[in-house]
Amino acid sequence: MNKKGTIVLLITLSIFLISFIRKLDNSFSKKDVELKIPKGFPKPNYDFSENPLSPGKFELGRKLFYDPILSKDSSTSCESCHQRVAAFAHIDHALSHGIDSKIGTRNVPAIQNMIWRDTYMWDGGVNNLEIQPLNPITSPIEMNETLPNIILKLKANKGYSALFKKIYKDTVINSERILKSLAQFTGLMISANSRYDKYKAGKDTFSIQEKNGLVLFKAKCSSCHKEPLFTDNSYRNNGILPDTSLNDIGRGKITNLETDNYKFKVPSLRNIEMTFPYMHDGRYKKLKEVLNHYSSSNHNATTDAEIKKIGELNDRERKDIIAFLLTLTDKEFLSDKRFTDPNRK
Ligand code: HEC
Ligand code: HEC
Repeated sequence: MNKKGTIVLLITLSIFLISFIRKLDNSFSKKDVELKIPKGFPKPNYDFSENPLSPGKFELGRKLFYDPILSKDSSTSCESCHQRVAAFAHIDHALSHGIDSKIGTRNVPAIQNMIWRDTYMWDGGVNNLEIQPLNPITSPIEMNETLPNIILKLKANKGYSALFKKIYKDTVINSERILKSLAQFTGLMISANSRYDKYKAGKDTFSIQEKNGLVLFKAKCSSCHKEPLFTDNSYRNNGILPDTSLNDIGRGKITNLETDNYKFKVPSLRNIEMTFPYMHDGRYKKLKEVLNHYSSSNHNATTDAEIKKIGELNDRERKDIIAFLLTLTDKEFLSDKRFTDPNRK
């Protein structure tokens, strides 16, 4: 090949390479952001009809989720507390850590299958997925920022103004667009490909221990942790004694009903292997401790009747249930490229 030929070849190769890298880096296809309701799942409560899914809006939501620009001093992003490896809970942190290392009063819950929830937070204090981020954004101990200020910062940021323009074909940056794009990102975090799901679909097998665990789970736990979401969206007192230093009365704070005091949202148990520590205050580090709790007859007067029915679980039964719970880990969800940090490749 002559010199000219080599240059042409090199240029062609680099164009090809650049477009390939761009493809890697960017954007999602329509297919990436399609809502697929997993088999056996009910109709979602949040249905995207007022917030039609689009690759651009999802990409914007992803960028915002990972960007500390949403906090006052650019120290804290949503991901600071909601980490992908932990199904978007905060691995190994009992209570949430926010701006200036301020410690909150509750454990960071996982973000998964949010569109099937009717309310959010441990006490159900928020009833809309789009509104939910206002809480951490404005909380003085989480991100300590305001939406008007975020809008100013985004407007001054070249990357964001270009992205908004690309998506909306105009230069408007407002709260609605910010919150809706975040809801597209968190709303598509759907976990439904664990070994449990594959077993149910006849595509995987369970060991005898896992099978025994499932039978026990159905008998003792699924009245609240209802399949396939592993929550019935209710508030219950599961018998853990209140931590007097936190004095968190849970649902009662929202409804002002004494009968709701010390009730908390039944959490999903999907990806439970990764979302430790457990309970609204992160008091238990290990599933073994959780099982010890459920097995003790030492519950208080307001403990839910379903908990009292569990009774003593022997050592083998506790191990069987834990073996079953570990089948709820969804490796495909935990490693889903759509939810990775766009700044870290
Ligand atoms: C400082 C840590 C922290 C930051 C930052 C944070 N969160 Fe959270 N998040 C929490 C805690 C703690 C809860 C539970 C709060 C409660 O129950 O009172 C929560 C709850 C949620 C929930 C509801 C989960 C459920 O099971 O009800 C969603 C969704 C969520 N956060 C999304 C976000 C988004 C989006 C951002 C960024 C705008 C964000 N969070 C920033 C700590 C944080
Ligand atoms: C009466 C309803 C009810 C029953 C029955 C029940 N749970 Fe729970 N479970 C809850 C509630 C409510 C919480 C959250 C309590 C809190 O944080 O205050 C919870 C929390 C948990 C957690 C911690 C989840 C997290 O993300 O922090 C695990 C694990 C768990 N339950 C497993 C089980 C197992 C295993 C059984 C059966 C042996 C069971 N549960 C039976 C209501 C129930």
